[in-house]
Amino acid sequence: MASGRRTGIIGVRRRRPSPDGPGRGRRPAIRHLKILAPYLWKYRLALLAGFACMLLQNYGYVRVPEFFKRTLDEITGANRAGVVLENLLWAGLVMVLTGGAMFLMRNLIIGASRKIEYELRERLYGRLLALDFTFYQANQTGDLMSRCTNDLNEVRTLLGPGVMYVPNALTRFLFFMPVLFALSGPLMLMVCGMLVVLILLIVVVLPRLRPMYRRIQETLASINNQVWQVIAGIQTVKLYTMEDTELERFETLNRGYVRHQMRVATLRGFIWPFFIFLLGVVELVILVVGGGQVIRGEMTLGELLQFNVMVGYLTFPVLSLGWIMSLVQQGLAALERLNYILEYPVEPQAGLQTVADGGLAFSVRGLRYRYPAGGEDVLRGVDLDIAPGQTVGITGMVASGKSTLLHVLCGLLRPEPGMVRLNGTDLTALQPDDVYGQIAVVPQETFLFSRTVARNIALGADAADPAGVQAAAVQAGLDKDIQTFPHAYDEMVGERGITLSGGQKQRVAIARALWRDRPVLFFDDALSSVDAATESAILESLRGLRQRKTLVVVSHRISALKASDVIHVMDAGRIVESGTHEELLARQGLYFRMARLQQMELALAGGVNEH
Ligand SMILES: Nc1ncnc2c1ncn2[C@@H]1O[C@H](COP(=O)(O)OP(=O)(O)OP(=O)(O)O)[C@@H](O)[C@H]1O
Ligand SMILES: [Mg+2]
Repeated sequence: MASGRRTGIIGVRRRRPSPDGPGRGRRPAIRHLKILAPYLWKYRLALLAGFACMLLQNYGYVRVPEFFKRTLDEITGANRAGVVLENLLWAGLVMVLTGGAMFLMRNLIIGASRKIEYELRERLYGRLLALDFTFYQANQTGDLMSRCTNDLNEVRTLLGPGVMYVPNALTRFLFFMPVLFALSGPLMLMVCGMLVVLILLIVVVLPRLRPMYRRIQETLASINNQVWQVIAGIQTVKLYTMEDTELERFETLNRGYVRHQMRVATLRGFIWPFFIFLLGVVELVILVVGGGQVIRGEMTLGELLQFNVMVGYLTFPVLSLGWIMSLVQQGLAALERLNYILEYPVEPQAGLQTVADGGLAFSVRGLRYRYPAGGEDVLRGVDLDIAPGQTVGITGMVASGKSTLLHVLCGLLRPEPGMVRLNGTDLTALQPDDVYGQIAVVPQETFLFSRTVARNIALGADAADPAGVQAAAVQAGLDKDIQTFPHAYDEMVGERGITLSGGQKQRVAIARALWRDRPVLFFDDALSSVDAATESAILESLRGLRQRKTLVVVSHRISALKASDVIHVMDAGRIVESGTHEELLARQGLYFRMARLQQMELALAGGVNEH
């Protein structure tokens, strides 16, 4: 089947961005700034007040050297102590006010950036929850974590210092130029010429850092991913003595990270001393040229001091321009990586229908499915009907597509239109949340949260429901186990459920599905880790629900399927046999062979002949 047909599989009609960041190297990063626009607008008052303080602060920086000039000219001229003192007092007062304005400017602008960071983090988290299952199959956990932490921080720095220092440097230049020109036109032109050269250097050299920063962030994401995988899979790492190979893998990544950082450090190591040297030359020029003007009587000593102090005040903004540029570059690269998540298409729910009332009937026709990662079709023309209240068994070879089929039926994986219908409506036209709301799934692999057992059963509930939770646990054959825990239902389940046994974890998942009381129950090999006695006890208790619920049981165990109204046997993405237990045995096909094999295994284990 051509991969072109696959557009509908994940229900996406739009092009999905690449995980490296959208439009890498093609579209200007400035485009990504637009996601910040609404936030900047929201905090416009704080930002405007911050900018007003910035103007006040720079006005202060213009006035202070003026008082210095008057003081020195008074000392070298009439030398009246009163005038000297008055000017020094003014200088002091203006310095205090300038400091106050700077404090407010920082508070307002940096404060706004922190609030925007908070809102962006919330939006990112919300987006992560809204994105569908296929997104997580295409992206690695560590990388996503890195985007939500490191990259978010870079964006915050772009918004705080970035937004503050760029206009600050500009306004300072604008405020200073006329005053410097009035003090000495030729000197000002010389100094400005040199500063312009410096700025041009910064503007030319620093954008080269942007791809380097992106590589640094990407490598950091890979490192995070590596650490995450080792921590999550520490048991496997230890059991298979993978420490050395994992360390080697980590070292390669770590070396790459340091190499990228060193490249940046080398470039910066060259840039900074060069800048400092140029600033030293600027000082020298002021002394040589300005000193000459003072000797020739074209300038007073006070004016030279004023000029020199003002150029000193320009030094920080000019020097920080380099830092700000790299911070902006880093911020833009990070923004691009955040935007990958924020712009990743989410299935629109608006305009989609809700499931029609009255039981849930599934009708599957010619269902084909291929995972977005590519490869072969995993389902190759499945036809299946499930009537409300029916108990359906699904079995078959490993990797024959049983779990994939369940995931498609419950809406987690999206089929193409026309292949799956629920109560007559096409699955792709139904609101995913509404479909999930009808079906309780016990997945093949249980995931437990680091919460209490009760909270793990009553997932998504705001308030505790001890009676309901216990009833579900009793039905799942878990209550007896829970009673042996020191804190019973309030026992904390370790991270990812490491404090529970495999069978206990599975039964927590079953209790979770039962507590939800949804009309349809999917069991994906959900009884594989429990013994035969527990299995039959659970199935017995479920039989009590059969009048009301549709039950789809995927299992390799014939004993779990026997009582089904109909059993489908899958092989290589197709249903190859269907019928009741007896009909299938009579066919003497795959099901019969599976049953015979299990019968022999039971006999060997000294078990009772069940068939
Ligand atoms: N996320 C995925 N991306 C790509 N291929 C996948 C993915 N998940 C499963 N597959 C492939 O789909 C095929 C069917 O897998 P599936 O999990 O549906 O089999 P199964 O019948 O449930 O097997 P089992 O009995 O072992 O649980 C397998 O070949 C598997 O490699
Ligand atoms: Mg499976």
